[in-house]
Amino acid sequence: MKVLVVGSGGREHAIVTSVAKSRRVSKIYCAPGNAGIAGLAECVNIGVMDFDRLVAFAKEQAVDLVIVAPDDPLVAGAVDAFEAAGIRAFGPRANAAIIEGSKAFSKDLMKKYNIPTAAYENFTDAEAAYAYLEDASFPIVLKADGLALGKGVLICNTLEEARAGVKEIMQDKHFGDAGNTMVIEEFMTGREVSVLAFCDGTTILPMTSAQDHKRAMDGDRGLNTGGMGTFSPSPFYTDEIHAYCMEHIYRPTMAAMKAEGREFKGVLFCGLMITKQGVKVLEYNARFGDPEAQVVLPRMKNDIIDVMEACIDGTLDQIQLEFEDNAAVCVVLASEGYPVSYEKGFPIRGLSAFEGKEDYYAFHAGTKLEAGQVVTNGGRVLGVTAKGKDLFEARAKAYEATDWITFDNKYMRHDIGKAIDEQ
Ligand code: AMP
Ligand code: GLY
Repeated sequence: MKVLVVGSGGREHAIVTSVAKSRRVSKIYCAPGNAGIAGLAECVNIGVMDFDRLVAFAKEQAVDLVIVAPDDPLVAGAVDAFEAAGIRAFGPRANAAIIEGSKAFSKDLMKKYNIPTAAYENFTDAEAAYAYLEDASFPIVLKADGLALGKGVLICNTLEEARAGVKEIMQDKHFGDAGNTMVIEEFMTGREVSVLAFCDGTTILPMTSAQDHKRAMDGDRGLNTGGMGTFSPSPFYTDEIHAYCMEHIYRPTMAAMKAEGREFKGVLFCGLMITKQGVKVLEYNARFGDPEAQVVLPRMKNDIIDVMEACIDGTLDQIQLEFEDNAAVCVVLASEGYPVSYEKGFPIRGLSAFEGKEDYYAFHAGTKLEAGQVVTNGGRVLGVTAKGKDLFEARAKAYEATDWITFDNKYMRHDIGKAIDEQ
């Protein structure tokens, strides 16, 4: 069968790597892809938001299955566009992807269906937000309603900071129209864990857990980024916590979306905080996480196409998800200056060191081929990933492998997976 993957980052490289392992797949296309993906798939230069051309391409090539990976096209209705043209597509339709596309929607959903989350209020008027802050306790969290590349969340320690935040989001429109509506929510503390789950509208099958490192600098300092590294599984996500989440978060979320007439099919990403008062939902995403996918998918034993088709067909109850009994760690190699400003176009050396090594992966995020040479082409450049028998071994191997790669302005965090020393 022929598969088209839509997207171009490390997550998409991990997805394409899993698709390439499927015994059922004869040809993979990726739009637009990157230099690493080009080793496994035919990359086609069509942007992820160019639905007309994507649909036309899928028709021309008689593609059997499209996998839409990033949030923007999902929220804008890419799956609806493929389906309207009679093409099978994996991912939520726009009416379900809103669970990521609008934080106000997801907070209201959780409130209505008693799914544990931080206390909050939604605001469409800046004056009302300022007034609310007068009696609030700090720290407090401000969130732009819409998609903002993971950067639309401000944690404010004082009233002054929070006032500046309201101005930034709602009046100066730092995050564009994403800030037309804003959520103000209670600040929570605890361990964070990401759980991605396959969904067919009725059944939800969680994958193994992962933990991301969102801040740019060691010690969780600096700005929020798309993610600087991950490990899987999270030792803090115990069987007991999993059972609680199944009963109080995952199944209720599936049922809630169905009851709202917004059947969720695809991957639901639950960002959770394990607080002293129990597990609470920080956010939902309507897709695989990045770099979570880079540590979760290499550990999955199932044929990914079987699972994705079951999501589309509503037969996920017949699938048994299986993961290897090991661990994986991903360290993102970024361009110095990410997530603010950085230079691109530097040659990347050392990629051949990964060839033929089973437990090591160099997932390409921001790379491209220029005159036969792989060069840096983004803030996050590579996700260097290794599997090991446990988290300690996986971490040692991943960091060892970061040394194999060199490029100008190479930057990474040195404390990915440090939390496992504290378990
Ligand atoms: P989000 O995009 O909603 O996941 O937020 C990005 C990051 O901000 C999360 O991964 C948390 O580290 C932090 N965050 C979001 N909401 C809260 C909250 N209510 N309390 C504490 N930290 C939060
Ligand atoms: N790593 C977080 C995300 O994909 O949103």
